[in-house]
Amino acid sequence: MTKNPKLVLPEIENYHSYSVYTANGGYNAARKALKQTQDEVINEVKASGLRGRGGACFPTGLKWSFMPKVSEKPKYLAINGDESEPGSFKDRQIFEFNPHGLIEGALIAGYAMGIKAAYIYIRGEYHKWVNCMQDAVDEAYAAGVVGEKMKATFGIDFAMDIYVHKGAGAYICGEETSLMNSMEGDRAYPRFKPPFPAQVGLWGCPTTVNNVETIATVPAIFNVGASEYAKLGAQGHAGTLLYGVSGHVNRPGVYELETGILLTDLIQDVCGGVKNNKRIKAIIPGGSSMPPLRGDEIEGIKMDEESLKKLGTHIGTAGVMVMDEDTDIVKVTLRIAHFYHHESCGQCTPCREGCGWMEKVLKRINKGDGTSQDLDLLLSVCDNIEGNTICALGDAAAWPIRGFILKFRDEFEAKVKKNRSFQALNVVHGRRESAKTLVFEN
Ligand SMILES: Cc1cc2nc3c(=O)[nH]c(=O)nc-3n(C[C@H](O)[C@H](O)[C@H](O)COP(=O)(O)O)c2cc1C
Ligand code: SF4
Repeated sequence: MTKNPKLVLPEIENYHSYSVYTANGGYNAARKALKQTQDEVINEVKASGLRGRGGACFPTGLKWSFMPKVSEKPKYLAINGDESEPGSFKDRQIFEFNPHGLIEGALIAGYAMGIKAAYIYIRGEYHKWVNCMQDAVDEAYAAGVVGEKMKATFGIDFAMDIYVHKGAGAYICGEETSLMNSMEGDRAYPRFKPPFPAQVGLWGCPTTVNNVETIATVPAIFNVGASEYAKLGAQGHAGTLLYGVSGHVNRPGVYELETGILLTDLIQDVCGGVKNNKRIKAIIPGGSSMPPLRGDEIEGIKMDEESLKKLGTHIGTAGVMVMDEDTDIVKVTLRIAHFYHHESCGQCTPCREGCGWMEKVLKRINKGDGTSQDLDLLLSVCDNIEGNTICALGDAAAWPIRGFILKFRDEFEAKVKKNRSFQALNVVHGRRESAKTLVFEN
């Protein structure tokens, strides 16, 4: 196979249409997979080394094997296209440029787990992509590759329906259990786990939730073969990823490349380097919820889960956010804190209150009214949120804030010292500019 093959986003004109998709081998992977047994299909996905692209990197074949084989209740597949995290914008490329790849992947996943209905959950405001996906689903029905007609098309006794579902328009809707509540028509509150979705999911029935890119990758595994796919990219995290690069680079965008690419190559060779040839101050490697890296620690860093884990961060959604030397890190941290405070659903106290406190304290620091103790206070709030909430939004809020303070404490301290309204009026050291402002000579 060529280096960095375009498996999920092939560079073929009009690939989104059924005719072009099938002219280029589309639905052959389903033909192949649907001839195998369900266990064989799951084992093939396990052997490929595919890990979820929705952020947690969970092994996909293993997740599929959790689905009960026999169930009195119907089983469901929920395909997560909420994609509302800042810095993550790759799934919408699939809706637009390879929707039939997603449908074909859904057919294979559905067949492997004995599922008769799949829902593609797309954030409601993404009208364009909802329409792209609906058009493709309509085409697939008309062509007889989805629904009852697929029995005759593929010559098997299996049929699955696919529905496009407009989401409720919030980041929390992407959390798998709140996605299910949202689909059921309720407020998108995350549910306690256990029970896990494979036992009690949509409408109380066994459900598998997978990311859009995860499912759209499945046909490629059957086209190239699991063992070939497993050879792509980094050990322990095989395949290609849709890297969504944003921030201060010359050519931001979504690029399909193998896992394990050097972060510096991604920025320099693929994205044309940093704007105005500036130095890099910070990078978030996988969407705004991941701990950041300092610009001076990215040399030799590979973009795969196992490599990034060693540095205390994660690949997440592979949404790479690049910040140049002029970036105000305190402002970035405040902006991120504002997002998570705004998006917290409010069910659990550490997240509801903690996210609010973090934003409040960061506002104070940014204004120049903070103290050094505020930084320790923020770290302690992070510690008290992490691991103490119903869903992972709490962790997602704490990780970047803790990461930025620990890695850029000097910048926070500078803002505290430089701008603070002086509080202890009888301090004798230092020169004042006014009664309230102490001047630090160095
Ligand atoms: C607050 C929050 C938001 C999330 N948003 C998304 C999302 O938009 N898309 C997504 O695929 N996963 C999202 N996830 C992760 C899902 O809960 C789930 O792990 C994922 O859809 C599983 O798919 P995968 O195994 O294919 O990665 C989110 C998680 C949290 C905690
Ligand atoms: S962690 Fe936050 S978003 Fe998640 S359930 Fe608790 S309050 Fe809601």
